Amino acid sequence: MPQTVRGVIARSKGAEVEVVDIVVPDPGPGEAVVRVEACGVCHTDLHYREGGINDEFPFLLGHEAAGTVEAVGEGVTDVAPGDFVILNWRAVCGQCRACAKGRPWYCFATHNATQKMTLAEGDPMAGTQLSPALGIGAFIEKTLVAAGQCTKVDREASAAAAGLLGCGVMAGFGAAVNTGGVSRGDSVAVIGCGGVGDAAVAGAALAGATTVIAVDVEDRKLEGARRFGATHTVNSRETDPVEAIRQLTGGHGADVVIEAVGRPETYRQAFYARDLAGTVVLVGVPTPEMEITLPLLDVFGRGGALRSSWYGDCLPSRDFPMLIDLYRQGRFDLDGFVSETIGLEEVEQAFDKMHGGEVLRSVVVLDQKKEQV
Ligand SMILES: NC(=O)c1ccc[n+]([C@@H]2O[C@H](COP(=O)([O-])OP(=O)(O)OC[C@H]3O[C@@H](n4cnc5c(N)ncnc54)[C@H](O)[C@@H]3O)[C@@H](O)[C@H]2O)c1
Ligand SMILES: [Zn+2]
Ligand SMILES: [Zn+2]
Repeated sequence: MPQTVRGVIARSKGAEVEVVDIVVPDPGPGEAVVRVEACGVCHTDLHYREGGINDEFPFLLGHEAAGTVEAVGEGVTDVAPGDFVILNWRAVCGQCRACAKGRPWYCFATHNATQKMTLAEGDPMAGTQLSPALGIGAFIEKTLVAAGQCTKVDREASAAAAGLLGCGVMAGFGAAVNTGGVSRGDSVAVIGCGGVGDAAVAGAALAGATTVIAVDVEDRKLEGARRFGATHTVNSRETDPVEAIRQLTGGHGADVVIEAVGRPETYRQAFYARDLAGTVVLVGVPTPEMEITLPLLDVFGRGGALRSSWYGDCLPSRDFPMLIDLYRQGRFDLDGFVSETIGLEEVEQAFDKMHGGEVLRSVVVLDQKKEQV
């Protein structure tokens, strides 16, 4: 029987988010219904609600989630009811041209649920299909995903912390370790120290970088970055970050600079703050109108690599359990990303706090106990 549960949608461009009733179908072949326990508020959710990603409103927001599998459809063997899982937006197909070349972290045909969740009876738009953010949609009591989007992990971390591996923390960590290829002795600068940037700082430190420079416009964020392993901090509202990064790296610039804001001016800083033959990694997501002009001679003359990082070039089945292991060993402070836990009704306020630079991650925690009574 399809179930009706509460979830958070962005109904139309620019409108504030709403908590509404949503119909979740039973899982069909290859699908799973997951009882969401916690879901982080990522900047990408705000991009969706502002119409910055596409115009396929209404969106079911939320995509950094952990929970328990409630039911699986026909043919699902990798996960079973009761499994604790982190949801991912890279359920690789194994068949597309990227997968065929042995680079599944680029998979161009990732799996999502085939059936759609819809607005429930009583809503002015009843029956309308929802577009789940990043093919997940997890600011909801239960969600329908492709079974491959469920990565089973040990229940070592709280759901609030584990869920963050589902997007921002994995994206930042992987931007440093996978896309940027940070290795022992490297100098690294990270521009933008939100959840994504701090995870890049942590990844760089764990990979053995000896200089890790955190850049942000908020002092609070810079203090936070130290907790994850930054060796130096630069407030780019007060100090020219390109100059500062050069000074801190013997006048050369950093080996790897990670842009975790998604703006032309910070990309330009990243471009000029790296050493010759260094690497820039863009993990921040720009909006459609943003453009950048660079002297082509500088692009050539500075050499190196300009890379973009989609989801930290991760493979969920390889990387989520590894990060949970590092957490269990006390080497990766996953709990440090959770600034506050909130209810489903507080997502709009969480967006405001994001603008104010107050939090790293607000995490929606679903009160499932109440529902079970
Ligand atoms: N590539 C991916 O796969 C992926 C995955 C998740 C998120 N993202 C993107 O990564 C970006 C960061 O996400 P987040 O959740 O950490 O966001 P956030 O809002 O928590 O953090 C952004 C940080 O950038 C800082 N900042 C803003 N303007 C700045 C400037 N001019 N110079 C320096 N710092 C500045 C803010 O103070 C804040 O600390 C977003 O664009 C998000 O959409 C990308
Ligand atoms: Zn593929
Ligand atoms: Zn995200």
